[in-house]
Amino acid sequence: MRVLAIETSCDETSAAILADGVVRANVVSSQIQIHSEYGGVVPELAAREHLRGLPVVIQSALRAAQMTPREIDVIAATLGPGLPQALLLGARAAQAFAFATQRPFVGIHHHEAHLYSPWISGEPLRVRFDEIEPHVSLIASGGHTLLIYVEGVRRHQVLGSTLDDAAGECFDKIAKLIGLAYPGGPQIDRLASEGDRNAFTFPRPLLRDQTDDFSFSGLKTSVRYFLEKNSALLTDRKAVRDLCASVQEAIVEVLVTKLLSAARRKNVGCVTASGGVICNRRFRERLAKEAAALDLRIRLASPGLCTDNAAMIAAVGELRYARGEVTSYDEEIRPSWTLEALEKAGTPAVPGVRKGSEQALSTVRVG
Ligand code: KG4
Ligand code: ZN
Repeated sequence: MRVLAIETSCDETSAAILADGVVRANVVSSQIQIHSEYGGVVPELAAREHLRGLPVVIQSALRAAQMTPREIDVIAATLGPGLPQALLLGARAAQAFAFATQRPFVGIHHHEAHLYSPWISGEPLRVRFDEIEPHVSLIASGGHTLLIYVEGVRRHQVLGSTLDDAAGECFDKIAKLIGLAYPGGPQIDRLASEGDRNAFTFPRPLLRDQTDDFSFSGLKTSVRYFLEKNSALLTDRKAVRDLCASVQEAIVEVLVTKLLSAARRKNVGCVTASGGVICNRRFRERLAKEAAALDLRIRLASPGLCTDNAAMIAAVGELRYARGEVTSYDEEIRPSWTLEALEKAGTPAVPGVRKGSEQALSTVRVG
């Protein structure tokens, strides 16, 4: 089976092709440079760039996989959650492609795709959902921080999420306070590698509380107050590195500790992690060390699949299609879709166009 997938939930325009479980193409066009000028993602600019980028990434994916549109069996795209203007373009492009080629369309939940992305691995990249065992998974990106218990394929339960800022958002906002470019996570990671993580102490919110939820806005506020009192520190290169390392350590400690304590409580033998923040080197190092001490296996999404990409959308698209779950060509985007809602309602199994829409169309007169 050949799946073409499209992802445009935020500031990455991506198209991928999966053929019989192997990622044959995963083209990602990043808009980071455009948004960095504004210190964050500007939805209107993201939409404009998706519109420009979609034909380019779809064509390059087809070319890289040496396939024509007619050779695609299924088309998948992210329906939500994400920025409405951004989601709309990718979903509509995929639905139009599916309609034009008369192939089924499958709408995908962005977090479900992140959740299973650690199970796409190897060279060439291959979907290994058959290896999924009970585990606890952390999704940490610019928009979300989620802790999820996974019993098996498509059987999961959200344990906790952030009460305010996401982990990536915390990296980005603190980086902005320090005067670093957007997105701040990779910049803090780079500077922290030469800094002293014990130089300054910042709060570890909800670390010892009996909850799987996260909270990062207090940490950001505490860094802001600290910098208001110690602004001279920002002109000292060594102090900035120490500051980055200390902030990073606070965020990483919260993420690692909560992931591992949930894994212990759920009595699983494996933990996984995905999302942009999981590229963080100190997170990977600390998790590896602490998980080994607990005899837990780790599966992390490979760096190329941590940030937003269409390969993970294709993998879940194939899975859902194989289970007979198809979505209508005119299904609406779902900007605030939660994983809990996905599990309750599932994706609508309505091929073609929805009934109401057919009626609406039948009233249109031509000529
Ligand atoms: O998953 P992603 O590409 O997009 C969202 O769905 O949000 O994640 C982007 C986030 C940004 O906040 C970025 O600063 C963060 O991931 N990030 C990192 C690193 N690389 C990306 N945070 C910490 N360390 C990194 N190396
Ligand atoms: Zn994402």
